[in-house]
Amino acid sequence: MKIMVVGGGGREHAIIKKIKENKDVTEIFALPGNGGIAADATCVDIGATDIERIVSFAVENKIDYAVVAPDDPLVLGCVDALEKKGIPCFGPRANAAIIEGSKVFSKNLMKKYGIPTATYEVFENMEVALNYLETAPIPTVIKADGLALGKGVIIAQTRDEAKTAVRDMMEGGIFGKSGSRVVVEEFLTGPEVSVLAFTDGKVVKPMVSSMDHKRIGDNDTGLNTGGMGTVAPNPYYTKKIADECMETIFLPTINAMNKEGRTFKGCLYFGLMLTPNGPKVIEYNCRFGDPETQVVLPLLESDLLTVMMATTNGTLSDTEVKFADKHACCVILASNGYPTAYKKGFEMTFTEEALKATYVAGAKLENGKLVTAGGRVTGTTAIADSLEEAIKEAYRLSDGVKFEGAYRRTDIGKRALDALN
Ligand code: AMP
Ligand code: GLY
Repeated sequence: MKIMVVGGGGREHAIIKKIKENKDVTEIFALPGNGGIAADATCVDIGATDIERIVSFAVENKIDYAVVAPDDPLVLGCVDALEKKGIPCFGPRANAAIIEGSKVFSKNLMKKYGIPTATYEVFENMEVALNYLETAPIPTVIKADGLALGKGVIIAQTRDEAKTAVRDMMEGGIFGKSGSRVVVEEFLTGPEVSVLAFTDGKVVKPMVSSMDHKRIGDNDTGLNTGGMGTVAPNPYYTKKIADECMETIFLPTINAMNKEGRTFKGCLYFGLMLTPNGPKVIEYNCRFGDPETQVVLPLLESDLLTVMMATTNGTLSDTEVKFADKHACCVILASNGYPTAYKKGFEMTFTEEALKATYVAGAKLENGKLVTAGGRVTGTTAIADSLEEAIKEAYRLSDGVKFEGAYRRTDIGKRALDALN
């Protein structure tokens, strides 16, 4: 079987490494992939949003199954375009990917179907939004409607900050069209949990839960990033909470999408907050999370490709989705200066065991050498019987990844460990 994976980050590297375990897979193409992924797949220089060329490539190369991993091609209709040419895909069609593509859509969906989330108001007019902020409870949360590279959410601690955020989005156009509508929502508190779930539109099979570490600095300080590390499972996410989420959030979401004529197939990501009033949805993503995937998939004992195909074929209820009863930790190495300005082009080296445990996010091959090419560069994952061991081993292995200016947080998993003890 010839497989095509659209995307080129650490998440895609984790997906590719897992798909490779299937004996029927003869070749994997990554579009565009990256210099590190090149060790596990044939990288093709086609951008993840270049849908026309992705489809042509898939047709010309007789791809048997495609995995569309990032949000933007999904929202742009990459799956629809591939399906039109008869290529089966993992991932939702555009009319379902909107659950991530528009916050206004997802908030209205939750309201309509009684799915627990922060209360909110939608604004299309800046003056009306600014007026509302005169009396809105503070802190408040401002969200750009559309995709904004994970940066479209501002937690405003003061009224002025909130107004500035609204002006930046609606007048300053910092997120382009994505910010022409904004959601202003209630500030919630509680531990955050990421739950990725396979769904074929009929049943939902959640994966092991995880915890991201979004801030650049230790003890969750500093700027937001794409994620500096993850652990799985998330100790806050007990069996009781999982059952409650299935009943009040997961199944209602799948059913709501069906009722709207927007059946969702693929991986639906639930960003949850465990508030004093129960679990609530912070956000939906229409895809695997990054770097959640780098701890979740290594724990998957079932064959990933088989499960993916079951979501496409509508046979997920008959397909086992089993996870190891173990713990995983992923430590990200970033370029010095990330998430603001940083330099690229530093040569990377790995010990043999580090290489095996590492997913490459931002690197390219230059004269046969792997050099850094992004803010987040690598994610190194360890699995162990206890969380404590997994953390220790992930840090030990990540010591074996070297490049100039490598930065990592030193406390990935600490909060989870404290919660366990
Ligand atoms: P997002 O980009 O939607 O993942 O949001 C980024 C982060 O902002 C989330 O991981 C939360 O930590 C925080 N956040 C988003 N919405 C809220 C909310 N209503 N209350 C408190 N924190 C929030
Ligand atoms: N880790 C959060 C995301 O993938 O959006």
